[in-house]
Amino acid sequence: MKYDISKLTLEEKISLLCGKDNWRLQTANGKVKEVFLSDGPSGLRKMIADVIPTLADVNSNKFKTVPATAMPTLSTIANTWSEEMAKLDGSTIADDCIENDVDVLLAPGVNIKRTPLNGRNFEYFSEDPYLSGVMGKAFIEGVQEKGIGTSLKHFIANNREIDRCFQSSEVAERTLREIYLLPFEIALKAKPWTVMCSYNPINGIYASENKYFLHDVLRNEFGYDGVIVSDWGAVHSPYKAVKATLDLTMPYSDKFYDQMILAYNEGLITEEEIDFAVQNILTLIEKTENDKKKISFTKEERHENAVKIAKEGIVLLKNQDNILPITSGKTVVCGEEAYNPTLGGTGSAFVTTEYEQISIDKTLNDLSKGKAEFVKSKCIIRNGFYMEITDLLPLAYDCDNVLLCIGVEKMGEGYDRTSIRLSPRTEEYIREISKINPNVIVCLYSGSAIDVSPWIDCVKGLVWAGFSGQGVNEALANIIVGETSPSGKLAETLPINLEDTPFYLNNGNASVSWYNEGIFVGYRYYEKYDKPVAYPFGFGLSYANFTYSNLKIEKHGELDYTLCYDITNNSNFDAKEVSQVYVKDVFSMVLRPEKELKGFSKDLIKARSTKTISVKLDKRAFAYYNTCLKDWHVENGAFEILVGSSSKDIKLKKKIDIKLPNSEQYSSSCMRYDK
Ligand code: BGC
Repeated sequence: MKYDISKLTLEEKISLLCGKDNWRLQTANGKVKEVFLSDGPSGLRKMIADVIPTLADVNSNKFKTVPATAMPTLSTIANTWSEEMAKLDGSTIADDCIENDVDVLLAPGVNIKRTPLNGRNFEYFSEDPYLSGVMGKAFIEGVQEKGIGTSLKHFIANNREIDRCFQSSEVAERTLREIYLLPFEIALKAKPWTVMCSYNPINGIYASENKYFLHDVLRNEFGYDGVIVSDWGAVHSPYKAVKATLDLTMPYSDKFYDQMILAYNEGLITEEEIDFAVQNILTLIEKTENDKKKISFTKEERHENAVKIAKEGIVLLKNQDNILPITSGKTVVCGEEAYNPTLGGTGSAFVTTEYEQISIDKTLNDLSKGKAEFVKSKCIIRNGFYMEITDLLPLAYDCDNVLLCIGVEKMGEGYDRTSIRLSPRTEEYIREISKINPNVIVCLYSGSAIDVSPWIDCVKGLVWAGFSGQGVNEALANIIVGETSPSGKLAETLPINLEDTPFYLNNGNASVSWYNEGIFVGYRYYEKYDKPVAYPFGFGLSYANFTYSNLKIEKHGELDYTLCYDITNNSNFDAKEVSQVYVKDVFSMVLRPEKELKGFSKDLIKARSTKTISVKLDKRAFAYYNTCLKDWHVENGAFEILVGSSSKDIKLKKKIDIKLPNSEQYSSSCMRYDK
């Protein structure tokens, strides 16, 4: 250790436990290096002015931030289903951090998308814990390989923004383990330098002072030995937080030091407890002093990375009559997003970019090299913005296709959406235009689910552009003209309407939020209750046509299996395909989802060729969390291994029988407890 804790006075040690300002750590009278933290998940957001802004200031971006690469948001990263892309994303953002002397990036967030209304869904990966964890882990690896730290956030059960600082998330233990803790457990394998606690209480105790979750679960069970940092302003009682093994309170608070000294003098906290946190902070400071900090991408290359990732995260949802790709004819391009796209959400994940958007019709014309023609409509269509479309209608009548680029209202920190519909006027536009020209393709720019049911039957094409950063329209143009075959798949179900969502009946605005839907979140809910959805989890079309065959399962140990299957690309497009492996416990003593995602693979399959894919499964693929045993438990019996191109479209299926020794099975009364 470079820094010796014994050289610090008690006062200096206490001072280290709280930030120096909004972003910097203290230096113990210059004895340790100063460390700088900055947001965030969609690219670097380093504030220029060092003032502690209000949430309203943050959301209106009143405080200027340094220019950086606006990368696709984590919701788009998840739609790539590619660990390689998540890593590249992290690595690209790390370059902006190195260039701007930032030591720790406050990302990624792996909270579950419990409801499509959550204002921060674009900052999170998925409704599925396995996918969220795997993508979070890859993102962390990408950042930390460059010698920059990360902050895995928000630990835990922070799944809405309304009342996020006070509303207690009331979650049963099995639900916590299987849904809300699991993404953290998986992502922690990448050893994030810091973990950020959430604002909310969990089962009545603030996350920042929740010893059970911070100490017993995160540190003892999951083996986390890094710094636990508070979300900004999440600490209510400094000494209780330190006792719960939260190391660093952010940002600076003028009460912190005095309250800690008082608690120490009153015997409420010991020097050992203080030292534990100080030691973690000293280790973090040392980690920041490394020689791995080498920029590997120029600014132009960072932009290219943003485009590359967006290309893999854009999802083709509807392609009636193969209306896409557009390779001939005349297409009118309209909608505000075509020229001024939404790159991401607001709040702490906002990124200021210097990149100037090129109008999408220009990129489309450049890429199609005269084969197809794209013309710009003067008419501005923005969601919730009223504008006559009379200009557009004659143009739409004269053209072969209409490409409509539509966004949503702002999404961001501190507030939730109240609806998942587009504005009534926008929905009406889509219907009106489709009466003039039936060849309408809608591109949706959103960070969370939209109810497309009121107009989907009127359009032939639907492309989910998502919140995909500064490269969104370049990436989209590539897909529209067929330069790239779409390969993104939904990491979040698109429900038919809000009333269908599992959270709907639990949407109280009281001081507590009951997680009564339990483990039945996202597709786990829609499948269990047989609810039709607009587009299922894992869904996404391609210009290629794939067939799946030849599923083989090899057993290596009691609960270790390797699956192999072939995917054939029957088309003339080289294309990537995401194949998904789900496991179903056929007969169970406890209530379990119909099936759960336990593995996936994204592979480039060349035109007219076949590739063999292999995916490994281990104990966790078959287990549920037994609260009686306080452990993961596998029941003997039949399990189905399902390989699909989405959660709905299962292509291959095989049954296996698990026969663990009787000593590893438990009485049914114990299991029934875990309903
Ligand atoms: C957010 C965190 C963010 C922090 C610092 C908080 O309001 O919840 O995600 O990292 O601010 O900006």
